[in-house]
Amino acid sequence: MVAMCGIVGYVGPRPSQAILISGLARLEYRGYDSAGIAVIDADGHLGLRKRAGKLQVLRDDLATHPMADGTTGIGHTRWATHGGPSDANAHPHLADDGKLAVIHNGIIENFAELKDELLGQGFTFRSETDTEVAAVLLGREFAASGDLVAAFRTVAARLEGAFTLLAMHQERPGLVVGARRNSPLVIGLGEGENFLGSDVAAFVEHTRNALAIGQDQIVAITPAGVSVTDFAGNAVDVEPFEVVWDASAAEKGGWSSFMAKEVSEEPEAVANTIRGRVHDDAVVIPELSGMDELFAGIHRIIIVACGTAAYAGMVGKYALEQWTRVPVDVELAHEFRYRDPVIGEDTLVVSISQSGETMDTLMAVKYAREHGAKTLSICNTQGATIPRESDAIVYTHAGPEVAVASTKAFVAQITALYLLALHVGRIRGVLSAAESAAHVHELQGIPGKISRVLAEEQAHIEQFSHWMADTQSVLFLGRHVGYPIALEGALKLKEISYIHAEGFAAGELKHGPIALIEPGQPVFVIVPSPRESAELHRKVISNIQEVRARGARVIVVAEEGDAAVLPFADEVLRIPLAAPLFEPLLAVVPLHIFAMGLATAKGLDVDQPRNLAKSVTVE
Ligand code: M6R
Repeated sequence: MVAMCGIVGYVGPRPSQAILISGLARLEYRGYDSAGIAVIDADGHLGLRKRAGKLQVLRDDLATHPMADGTTGIGHTRWATHGGPSDANAHPHLADDGKLAVIHNGIIENFAELKDELLGQGFTFRSETDTEVAAVLLGREFAASGDLVAAFRTVAARLEGAFTLLAMHQERPGLVVGARRNSPLVIGLGEGENFLGSDVAAFVEHTRNALAIGQDQIVAITPAGVSVTDFAGNAVDVEPFEVVWDASAAEKGGWSSFMAKEVSEEPEAVANTIRGRVHDDAVVIPELSGMDELFAGIHRIIIVACGTAAYAGMVGKYALEQWTRVPVDVELAHEFRYRDPVIGEDTLVVSISQSGETMDTLMAVKYAREHGAKTLSICNTQGATIPRESDAIVYTHAGPEVAVASTKAFVAQITALYLLALHVGRIRGVLSAAESAAHVHELQGIPGKISRVLAEEQAHIEQFSHWMADTQSVLFLGRHVGYPIALEGALKLKEISYIHAEGFAAGELKHGPIALIEPGQPVFVIVPSPRESAELHRKVISNIQEVRARGARVIVVAEEGDAAVLPFADEVLRIPLAAPLFEPLLAVVPLHIFAMGLATAKGLDVDQPRNLAKSVTVE
């Protein structure tokens, strides 16, 4: 079976192989354990090439054993859940007669019974995948009707689960047909050529004009046009949008990795998320106009997200509660809908997702809507599914994030949550105009301060992370808004350096985790500013002394001028002064640099860590 994958389709006048391969290169962050393409060549023959391993393996194979090119093609890059990454399990898969090729993202849950049915009819299979079942079914239906769209309609009605499917048939050159249910697919509109992709990255170097396809819809592209219908065959309206970034934004440029580039873009990610949303020192979010009554009436906010996005939500909770006085819960999206949560019309469910495709988050949003809550999506990806399924959208403008580890999106998500909190806080009369303006000024100062952290600490952090290349385990401690930053620091380290790492609320230390401390154990401590809460600061200093007394090697992240940390720290990483709620936006930067530095020191691929994919599109 196949889960999170990248999909690209092309029809037009140009040879398609290069277009497919460069589209896959931009989608490789979605999955990278095997890749393949299929092309209908000038003789009307369907050529197929697929290889286990990263896209480069396929590229090398095509370079040494060229395949006839053609102007209709589909391509796929895979992240497998079941069925190992092998040439046979790689996509595309062919129908029984070898004339129809299919690529797929998602899981066909009833594939076993469909396969039994097809085996009973004498069809044979070459792989362990669920996708091949869809290919054989489509082949059977096309043979009966000669109509690829009609075949899709019949097959879509039989499939259970989540899927994006693209198919083409060698007897129908110039036509690629796709269908989607709970899995992403967007259309790129060119001149005399058209594209399909898992996201706009698949075709942004050719066109920035895109169409978002709704759930349970079928799309057919030809060089001359695009038609979209629902699964019953009725024509539907599709939403056009213009991609706001260009192809160069998703390129590595001169950077050693996408992650290095994206960490360097953290200042712009914050600045661009604020841009256009502040007028006369007040937050104005045009996307939320007309929602004042709703914000005034809510009694509860629930934030749903996964991974790093959930940690952004945990930071946002402090600002939302302080500035709006609405109680906020932050839930991992995959836990939310299985526990019969108490929600209703007075609940606002805020989802946070860089990709806008995370299946757990999508399902939580759908559940919330079905149970009467209002939903607001904070998302970084235009045309993605979660914003389309939500009542309101606030886009983060971090630009495309390609590295699997989320960095610039994290600071952009916190920024968007703060803007939302200021907006709602004013509507509810909790914040005065002057208070709100003071917070806005603080937020506007953050990009410059992040730039200073990068300029002043990057070399230092990279140097000591190299010394730590043999480290087996790292702990991270924080309190208040420093706690989610400790969690984020630990997640980033595990994810790309494969080192055991845990984040703790520093107050929990004596309730268990301090037993882990032994001589030499590296412990990062996020130290809050002493200026606003001397007590909180004092308590964290005590925590440092406690671990230090047991031999820990302490690395503190502390504001400039905080001398109290000096007697106890083996390393001090400085961040500029900021109001306490804004410190996470600065304190996280050294942790992102550290994770990257350590992974690099270990010689690992920081952009494509093992076992992971950027976009988790299955539950
Ligand atoms: O696309 P999303 O923001 O919904 O993704 C959520 C998580 O899968 C993601 O943040 C993940 O934890 C990152 N790889 C962390 O760096």
